[in-house]
Amino acid sequence: MDNRIYSPSTARNRSFIAEALLPRLPKGGSVLEIASGSGEHATHFTPIRPDVTWQPSNLEEDQILSTESWRAHVGTENFLPVLKLDVTGEVWPTEAPDYSHGPFDAIFNANMIHIAPWVVTEGLFKGANRVLKKGGFAYLYGPYKVGGKHTSESNIAFEEWLKAKDSSFGVRDIEKVAAEAEKNGLLLKESLPMPANNFFQIFEKQ
Ligand SMILES: C[S@@+](CC[C@H](N)C(=O)[O-])C[C@H]1O[C@@H](n2cnc3c(N)ncnc32)[C@H](O)[C@@H]1O
Repeated sequence: MDNRIYSPSTARNRSFIAEALLPRLPKGGSVLEIASGSGEHATHFTPIRPDVTWQPSNLEEDQILSTESWRAHVGTENFLPVLKLDVTGEVWPTEAPDYSHGPFDAIFNANMIHIAPWVVTEGLFKGANRVLKKGGFAYLYGPYKVGGKHTSESNIAFEEWLKAKDSSFGVRDIEKVAAEAEKNGLLLKESLPMPANNFFQIFEKQ
């Protein structure tokens, strides 16, 4: 069965993310991708860095099936079978005693925290603190407010769309996200502006 989902936004952003993310990954390292979505980021990245073990994860069944279809299609050995992972869970599946690829050098998470309630941001950093190696990094990609302000007109419209969908969603303040990260032992080290009014945020686990 071909369950591949094609995400137009992933097609647009994957090369820019690859440039920011892939050179930062240590040789022979390991990445846990949170909310892999269609699975196209992993599909694009794993052939470029075959030395890096890539653990995709998803919450939703159609995205789990899509990621598995993309994995079968690309056939890269370092692309591990997708795990079902809800970041708000007290224990993530990568913490199971029989799981052998953690703790991780990095977490990668794109476009999740604005389209989910704040508890998802809290769960993300709580879990990151548990599953990252000391000195490991969490890389988050997406739109952010800076100093409480939107960085573009298009993000204002995007936030209106998000709020209409669910009032608990919203473009997050980078300062609030950094404070939440810090509560969980991760420090914001760099905030890289990306095309289309997005950012690549780099948090290091202390
Ligand atoms: C806009 S999609 C982004 C997917 C993909 N990362 C991308 O950039 O195309 C938002 C994702 O957040 C995931 N998500 C929302 N709440 C979550 C949670 N509690 N735990 C894990 N993933 C969650 C959704 O399942 C969805 O895959």
